[in-house]
Amino acid sequence: MAQPSASDRRQSVRAGVVWDGVRQLLEADGSEHARIVDIGGGTGGFAVPLAELGHTVQVIDPSPDALASLDRRARERGVADRVTGQQGDLSDLATLVDEADLVLCHGVLEMVDDPAASLASIAGVLRPGGHLSLLVAQRHAAVVARAMAGHFQAARELLEGEATEGAAGRGGRRFTHDELVGLLGAAGLDASSVQAVRVFADLVPGSLLDLEPGATAALVELERAVATRAEYLPLATQLHVIATR
Ligand SMILES: C[S@@+](CC[C@H](N)C(=O)[O-])C[C@H]1O[C@@H](n2cnc3c(N)ncnc32)[C@H](O)[C@@H]1O
Repeated sequence: MAQPSASDRRQSVRAGVVWDGVRQLLEADGSEHARIVDIGGGTGGFAVPLAELGHTVQVIDPSPDALASLDRRARERGVADRVTGQQGDLSDLATLVDEADLVLCHGVLEMVDDPAASLASIAGVLRPGGHLSLLVAQRHAAVVARAMAGHFQAARELLEGEATEGAAGRGGRRFTHDELVGLLGAAGLDASSVQAVRVFADLVPGSLLDLEPGATAALVELERAVATRAEYLPLATQLHVIATR
């Protein structure tokens, strides 16, 4: 059997905890044919595997290149009939989506002008009891990363907080746990679980995963083990929140 490539190994570490959370949510809901919207879904890294489980996925993304890759990937994996790609962005949600059981918003809230308005738009297309899977960059890990790289002033500025009111800035916004829960609550969404994502993955040298047999699998297990421990949330590169309308 072909060995996974270095980029596949890194992807498995990055996506493992988030994928577990989304799959468990769908299993707990008992729906085999959920209507899923993946806003900023890019090339379909989540959309296509979700379609393979039997769900219908509408991907909305402003990038035509990403949508072309999505289309190719869906056809190659035999799920083109359950995956639709549409060009648009978060502000178009109300016009493009009828009603969704689950909205994925992974790696997008960092880039929008108004996160509060974006979350309100998402809440507006969820059915009552529907869920949001939200993945965002977490601020404190970025403060540590900047300080470790010797960018002390940048670390200080980030520490003082640019997240909720300021401009997205270079590299996008970063959120703390409490800011996120507050923003979700204001949009009428109840954060039912928060997971730490990539606590160690960005600190471990890539060469270690490439050279050490079994290291990737062991790191994925370690990430899983800390994902739901509150003390690791401020160390995580990203937070994954499941919220319910
Ligand atoms: C960091 S990538 C994340 C892709 C995918 N969700 C994932 O987790 O692998 C961000 C994606 O958001 C899209 N995007 C950027 N601004 C957006 C906006 N305002 N509304 C929706 N999508 C946006 C980009 O085209 C890109 O595909």
